[in-house]
Amino acid sequence: MTLPILFRSERALRPRALDLYSCAGGFGTGLERAGFDVDGCDVAGRPNYPYPYHRGDALEYLAHLIETGEIRRYAFVHASPPCQDKCTLTVGTNQSQGWGGTHVDLVAPTRALLERTGLPYSIEQPNGRAEIRKDLTLCGELFGLGVIRHRNFELGRWTIEQPAHIAHRGRVRGWRHGQFHDGPDVAAYGNGGGKPSVPDLQAAMGIDWTDVREELTEALPPAYGEFIGRAFLASLALGVAA
Ligand SMILES: C[S@@+](CC[C@H](N)C(=O)[O-])C[C@H]1O[C@@H](n2cnc3c(N)ncnc32)[C@H](O)[C@@H]1O
Repeated sequence: MTLPILFRSERALRPRALDLYSCAGGFGTGLERAGFDVDGCDVAGRPNYPYPYHRGDALEYLAHLIETGEIRRYAFVHASPPCQDKCTLTVGTNQSQGWGGTHVDLVAPTRALLERTGLPYSIEQPNGRAEIRKDLTLCGELFGLGVIRHRNFELGRWTIEQPAHIAHRGRVRGWRHGQFHDGPDVAAYGNGGGKPSVPDLQAAMGIDWTDVREELTEALPPAYGEFIGRAFLASLALGVAA
């Protein structure tokens, strides 16, 4: 964690962000680097999450925070609802395995609650059929990472300019259709043959506080959270948040 040493009064001035579906805190760590104090929420036990977190259902927890007024502690909310039923990387497998209908789409109810908070927010989903507005798309190349990891963000109550997409340096390294392709980026998903080692995943994503493969393959690179956190704080300073 790269938190600078702050005097008590400066620390108290840091805005708070709520990180829903927080997993091991890839995105949350970026928000912290951008200048937020961060609280997470995940239904699974996530001892590697670096900040305070509530273990439980994100929808129930967010509804509780709204009803009790505790949501007013936060300046910003981010949500990464799980996407296994809609993601292009898994939808083919899901269909072939007959899993497609069993997953619950959490995006719509999450958005409805986020709207009720009255707070600025971001919802993240990978490319695929997930129904979010693509207000922003980030790619690992923008940050010099070792993953492509295109991710879309719907932004509520604030806006950001889409940065230009940077051409990929080469192919994603790994086996496809029986052939090995070399390249500068690793495939940070799944567990199949030719997938990167845990140290390779950590280096590619910029994450060193978890060595749990599932947490690394689920994570957003901290650089994405830092980019969005800084852009949001800058939008506040400029008075462009709605
Ligand atoms: C795609 S991962 C989030 C990755 C995270 N944003 C990051 O950057 O590291 C989705 C997470 O949602 C959690 N999850 C699934 N259903 C949930 C629910 N109903 N409430 C809270 N968390 C849930 C999973 O345990 C998983 O950790």
